[in-house]
Amino acid sequence: MKYFSIAFVSLLFLFVSFRFQHPTSTIQKDVSIESRVDSLLALMTLEEKVGQMNQYNGFWEVTGPAPQDGDAARKYEHLRKGWVGSMLNVTGVENVRTVQRIAVEETRLGIPLIIGYDVIHGFKTLSPIPLAEAASWDMNAIRKSAEMAALEASAAGIHWTFAPMVDVSRDARWGRVMEGAGEDPYLGSRIAFERVKGFQGDDLSQPHTIIATAKHFAGYGFSESGRDYNTVDVGTSTLYNEIFPPFRATLDANVRTFMNSFNVLNGIPATGNSFLQREILKGKWEFDGFVVSDWGSIAEMIPHGVARDGKQAAQIAANAGSDMDMESVLYVEHLVDLVREGKVKESDIDDAVRRILRIKFELGLFEDPYRYCDPERERDIVGSDQIKRASLDMAQKSIVLLKNEGNLLPLPKKGKTIALIGSLAKDKDSPLGSWRAMVEPNSAVSVLEGLNALGENEIRYAEGPVLVEGTPNFAIEVKINTDNRDGLSEAVSMAKEADVVVMVLGENGFQSGEARSRADLGLPGLQQELLEEVYKVNQNIVLVLMNGRPLAIEWAANHIPAIVEAWHLGSESGHAIASVLHGDYNPSGKLPMTFPRNVGQVPIYYNYKNTGRPTNPGNNVVFWSHYIDSPNEPLFPFGYGLSYTSFEYQDLKLSSDRLSKGGEIELSVLVKNTGKLKGKETVQLYIRDMVASISRPVRELKGFQQIELEPGESKLVKFTISEQSLGFYTNFGDWVVEGGQFKLFVGGDSTCDLNADLYFE
Ligand code: BGC
Repeated sequence: MKYFSIAFVSLLFLFVSFRFQHPTSTIQKDVSIESRVDSLLALMTLEEKVGQMNQYNGFWEVTGPAPQDGDAARKYEHLRKGWVGSMLNVTGVENVRTVQRIAVEETRLGIPLIIGYDVIHGFKTLSPIPLAEAASWDMNAIRKSAEMAALEASAAGIHWTFAPMVDVSRDARWGRVMEGAGEDPYLGSRIAFERVKGFQGDDLSQPHTIIATAKHFAGYGFSESGRDYNTVDVGTSTLYNEIFPPFRATLDANVRTFMNSFNVLNGIPATGNSFLQREILKGKWEFDGFVVSDWGSIAEMIPHGVARDGKQAAQIAANAGSDMDMESVLYVEHLVDLVREGKVKESDIDDAVRRILRIKFELGLFEDPYRYCDPERERDIVGSDQIKRASLDMAQKSIVLLKNEGNLLPLPKKGKTIALIGSLAKDKDSPLGSWRAMVEPNSAVSVLEGLNALGENEIRYAEGPVLVEGTPNFAIEVKINTDNRDGLSEAVSMAKEADVVVMVLGENGFQSGEARSRADLGLPGLQQELLEEVYKVNQNIVLVLMNGRPLAIEWAANHIPAIVEAWHLGSESGHAIASVLHGDYNPSGKLPMTFPRNVGQVPIYYNYKNTGRPTNPGNNVVFWSHYIDSPNEPLFPFGYGLSYTSFEYQDLKLSSDRLSKGGEIELSVLVKNTGKLKGKETVQLYIRDMVASISRPVRELKGFQQIELEPGESKLVKFTISEQSLGFYTNFGDWVVEGGQFKLFVGGDSTCDLNADLYFE
């Protein structure tokens, strides 16, 4: 009896203290998320509200001892006081559980943290880099890849990914093109939609879904001279017609968070830009999720020269609608004072906090803050075969065949001596690319391994001059070897003896990505020299490119008979490349970005606007829009990619050449497989508005379809066209569809010339 009463009293004490610690337990559960958010908000002090707007990096070894002094100790104290709403870069169920336990059990209100991470192209198993995935033009595969990333990351405790990056970019110098979907707003929008759907699914409370982030809002891909973080100055037509559409598409998929960007947009930093965040995003587009700043971007308004100190930076960012401060530590330091001084309205704080809490409720974190923290699930899912298989499938679909003279490819599986050359050929790290989350370094399947595993040829490997000095990583500069020619002559003699040479050249995995802008787009280091030396002794070369951006490889395009664009393809890279080289997989990728001939052409893109002097007047007259030392045309255009078979387009027909408001017409075209192998083709539809109130691009992608055809088979491919495909945004952001003549082009890349006229009345 005595023991029973002690137990009863302790239970009562526990119950009372739990209720004392968690006033949130008074919030009714069976009401809408909005009223739960309101009830919780009503319980919060101003400090606690501001705390929700504060995000910290995982700043200490979370399962070890708590930090005792310095900045980390202060941040730790903030966490225990409930002044942290989110953390990033804490991964693995044990670590996530540890920080979540502090938030839930040690703070007054017990509001769970939301844990964010850059799950850009996978978590422990990597898919191809996003630019490569975009080359697949395969919406199902792209969605599936994001689903797999969400599955793996959620099993490791992650609630929220800072992806997809939907910045349109036309500048291959910018290292972050690897992280996006390329240069086109239409393709970019379609992919943005699928990626968000893949991450988030339709129900965020499911354990395998994570919140997505549309980033970087806005204009980040248009940095001057392709230098990361640089100034962005774009006109309204570009902003509304090129930059905004993929962001809009993420909203159609119900994306729950946005991230702003490091750049200034027309003089105003995106982080402090109330036109972008309040007027457009939360106003016109009615976004009800929250905006996280980019890493430290609130503080960066000081060097941008628009804030005199941290306090003013916090004031500008909060007033402009940045809801969460990633690692500037300025909201938590200044927002309470700024509200008390009347410089920031408490109603704006409430709005930001409401947005953040709403997402936490949607995720089901209040029902179970540890819902992503199941060690058994983590063990079963992370690195599982299901995810590896999807990554291989995506990698195969991402490969683009750029040239195949004399059908050098596919290579026979036996009876040949193959000289495999280049340090990237045996590199198990570079194929992982940049933004590699929790993948093991050096864990990709190399090309050497892939080729050895498939077929019975004699493979002889020579590295040639090493590409990189030292071991590059995420944070340090990549040192490219430019003078050590050891290995060059060995590679050349090996090539001389071989039936065929496979050269794997391109970029180290850390030569693209954030802060990895390049001023030269050729093959780095001694690789061009290696290629030319090998070519002198054996011209039977298959060049496999491994890179994170379009490269200017004009010499190779002119001399080398077969070129395969294999990007940074992730964990299964070598298997995917070998399957394409041997014809087990017939390549079907199409370029999502134009390949320039030289850096001078950059930015170069297919949907440019005509100048007043677009063509050569002849008679040796110089006054037209061109370079005197380079053609205007790119090396490989947007939408381009070959197959081991060939396709012919014929019988382009419109159901009518007149379209009126609210109506639809059908375009049909007959596509035939004229080669000897089964193959996949991406049929592309481009439209040109011939005369409009503002100058419109020479053509714009407006639709595409993927078909697979047996040899000799034909298929009638149909597109439905409505006024939606004909309109554009004015310089005031209004959507208009103007009457007149439109030219419709159909074919296998952006230079296709089969066309028909359509009149909109
Ligand atoms: C990048 C973001 C990323 C963030 C967090 C920043 O440097 O610009 O895209 O999500 O870091 O890692």
